[in-house]
This record gives sequence, structure tokens and C-alpha cells, in this order.
Amino acid sequence: MTSNKISTKEEKSQPRKIASLTRDDSRMDKIISLCKRRGFVFPSSEIYGGFAAVYDYGSYGVELVNNIKAAWWKAMVQENENIVGLDSSIFMHPKVWQASGHVSGFSDPLIECKKCHARLRVDHVLEEIGVFADEKMSEEEINKLLKENKDKIECAKCKSKNFTEAKKFNLLVQSNLGNFTGDWTKEPTYLRGETCQGIYVNFKNVLDSSRVKVPFGIAQIGKAFRNEITARQFIFRKREFEQMEMQMFVRPEEGMEVYEDWRKRRWQYYLDLGISEKNLKWHQHENLVFYAKAAWDIEYNFPFGFKELEGIHARGDYDLTQHSKFSGQKLEYQDSKTNEKYVPHIVETSVGADRTFLAVLTESYTEEKLEDGSERVVLKFPKKLAPIKAAIFPLLKNKPELVQKAREVYDVLKGEFMCEFDDNGNIGKRYRRQDEIGTPYCITIDFDSLENADVTVRDRDTMKQERIKIAELKDYLKEKLS
Ligand code: GAP
Repeated sequence: MTSNKISTKEEKSQPRKIASLTRDDSRMDKIISLCKRRGFVFPSSEIYGGFAAVYDYGSYGVELVNNIKAAWWKAMVQENENIVGLDSSIFMHPKVWQASGHVSGFSDPLIECKKCHARLRVDHVLEEIGVFADEKMSEEEINKLLKENKDKIECAKCKSKNFTEAKKFNLLVQSNLGNFTGDWTKEPTYLRGETCQGIYVNFKNVLDSSRVKVPFGIAQIGKAFRNEITARQFIFRKREFEQMEMQMFVRPEEGMEVYEDWRKRRWQYYLDLGISEKNLKWHQHENLVFYAKAAWDIEYNFPFGFKELEGIHARGDYDLTQHSKFSGQKLEYQDSKTNEKYVPHIVETSVGADRTFLAVLTESYTEEKLEDGSERVVLKFPKKLAPIKAAIFPLLKNKPELVQKAREVYDVLKGEFMCEFDDNGNIGKRYRRQDEIGTPYCITIDFDSLENADVTVRDRDTMKQERIKIAELKDYLKEKLS
């Protein structure tokens, strides 16, 4: 029983938190480093030197992003009777991207440094010196702005001030799908640049195959691809990313009312997700494209400042009208009571799963000073998003009776919650590891467990420990995690 006493003491003597450390400038670097070290995010093809603006999710990253997608799906599809889901393909008919306007108008302005040939996005370069360039500006307008500010703009790489004129660069990613002989560059197939086009082209299919009635929504989660010029800010701007988009089809005269309703609902969604309101901000787009009725972004306070997290757009009848024109198919809605036919207006909510991931990480990343002078890093994820809900530890790895009991507990819990079995290192080290991946509960099986059929449950945030009967553990966690 000696080992019992020593080990229990080791467990109970975990130092208490005395202060939260303040945010600092290197926060982004620390988050990136933790993501790599603990298996959240890896640079793509790293053994080949990486691949700009492409990232992979590791074992905890994939759990987190799956939980983020599940939370969105629940809030949008499961909890709304009038919203149905869809999973359309990445490849679509090339005409889709002509109809949508992406082939002619989906571009970023670019300049090249004449000395070191670095390519820079003009709107970003101007933003850094406090000048606003709207994405809808023509090449001419942008070049005028550049000329006016040419003394203030320098190359981030070589400090030269000598640049080419700005040129617009199309963001669509081309493929050679299915074209084995012809010149595929003439009408290329694209990897989709946004998921909502798959929703618009399936409007009629959904209408004809389900019992939806206007106002109704179609929601989808899926990959999108953009030839982003600047690979910056970690997973904030990726070339392959995942969107969670919902398109609400509404009566034209009700469009703005539905739009305002969704603005409120999407704001509340982030609060429910555990994002603090002080880190959220509205940004209204002033220079709207001709068909848009309104466009607001919800911005999040990322470590590099407030930036777009989600876009909420009132798109009028533009999308259905365009696809109707290009496909020759009528994309209308007929009111079953009045027989009135019309093209519904669209209210869109669009957010990146990866951007939500970065916002949740930023929000959760905490450094704390403990009473013994040590520090800990904790990811204080909202419990429903935590990759691992409970970690199960046998107090000592070389005591087969403890390991066996811990395995029994693990086997009971793993069917219900995402769990991890960990017998590596002392308890303090195991707590630190689980804190860094944001596991809400650590469960230790010690010698008392063998006699009393109970375990120590340690709370991630308060670091408080309590004894819980093994038979009650499942219900205890269910309640705590709900
Ligand atoms: N269908 C509308 C649309 O695609 P968007 O503002 O281009 O609008 C919507 O994109 C959302 O998709 C953004 O608010 C952002 O969360 C995410 N997103 C866009 N480009 C991204 C990128 N390169 N990397 C990661 N997320 C991106």
C-alpha cells in the first residue's frame, strides 16, 4: 500500500491556478507550434518542404473539425424543419462557373516586385498602409491607387519599391478532367470555387423531390478550392478549404426580413459555440456587386486582428436567373395556394470550417500561472467541440491490476465518448498533455479504485478532483458534457 500513498499524493498535489497570463504578440506562433506538436494541423507534404497554403489535419485536428461541422449541421439542418442538406460534387459542368460570373470576375489584383519577383496581393499591400482597395475595383482604379501611394509600398522580401502594374488574377483552380485529346484550356473543368453553386444547380431537384416550401433552405458542407495568391496567416487563407454554406430561398418581398433574421441567428450561433462577444464584430460591405441587396461579415478577433469569419449575403434573384439563362431550364417556384410563379430570392450564410477551427483555437488557447510557479497551456474548448472528451489513466503503468481496471473503464466509456487511454509518464505530465489538447476530463484509476470501485475525475478548467463511482461514470460524463 506504500505505492498507493505516494502515488495518490502525487496526483493530489497538482498545483492550483493563480493567474491567467495575458495575450502576447507571439500568440499565433504558439498556436501554430502547438498544432504541429500535438497533432492538430500539419503543413501539407512537409517531407518535401511543404506546399504553400495547403494543410492537413492530424488526429486531434480531424476530431475538432468534425465536431465543428457537426455543430453547424445540427444548428442549421437538424434544428430547422425548413432546411435540408445536400452533398454535391466538387466537379461541375464548366458552364456553371461562366453563369456564376467566376470565369470573368473572380479575381484578385496582383503586383510583382521587379527586383526579387515576389508576388503580392494589392489589396493586402494597400491595407497594410491604411488604404482600402475594394475587390470589385477595376485594374485601372487599382493602378491609380498604387501610383498615388507608390512611395509607401515596399516589397516585404527585398524592400524594393519597384513593382509591375497590377493585374487581376483568376482564383478558380482548373483541372483537365475527362479531356484526353482536346485542348482542355478552352473550356476547362474547375474544382469548385464555392460550394453554393452546387446548391443553386440542385434547386429544382430538391424542390421536386422533397416537401419543402418557400421559405426553405439548402445546406451543405464541402471542399472549395481557390488559387489564393498570398499564402498567409496559417489556415486562415487556404487554397483547399472547407465551406459550410446555407442558401435560403425566399419570396422576393420577404428577402430582407429573412436576411435580418439570419444575421441575428448567426451571431447567436457563435455565442452558443462558446465564442465571447467581445471577439466578434460586424463589418458591412459598402461597395456591393450590382445584384446584391446587402452583405455583412461577422469578423473574429484572430491573433492578427479582426478578420472575416462568415459572410451573410442577400443575393436577390441573381443566381437562379443566371443558371436559368445559361442552362435554358426554368428555375422558378410555384406557390401551391395562389399558383403564382416567381424566381425566389436568396439569403446566404457562408463560413469556412477551417476559419471556425482557427477562431475556436484562438478563443480556447490559454496560458496559466500555477501556484507553484509553473505554467500550463490549456485549450479551453467548449466541451462539445473537444477532440477527446475523457482520458483514462492507470496511476502506474507497471501495476497490471491498475492497467486492467483502467482498460475496463476505457472499454465502458469508449462507445459513448471519444476517449484516450494514457499510461505514459507521471500523472502531472499526463494532465499537461491532456490540457494541451483540451480534454475536459481526466480519469485516474488508483489502488483505492480496486477496493472502492471509484475513480478520480479531474476537471480541465478548475483542476479540481472528485471521486466518482465507476458505475456512475457514464451518466456523470453525459451530464457534464451536455
Ligand atoms: N458563397 C459565398 C462565398 O464563398 P466568400 O466570402 O468568398 O463567400 C465565404 O467565402 C467564407 O468561406 C469566408 O467567410 C471564409 O470563412 C471562408 N473562406 C473563403 N476563402 C477561404 C480560404 N481561402 N481559406 C479558408 N476559408 C476561406
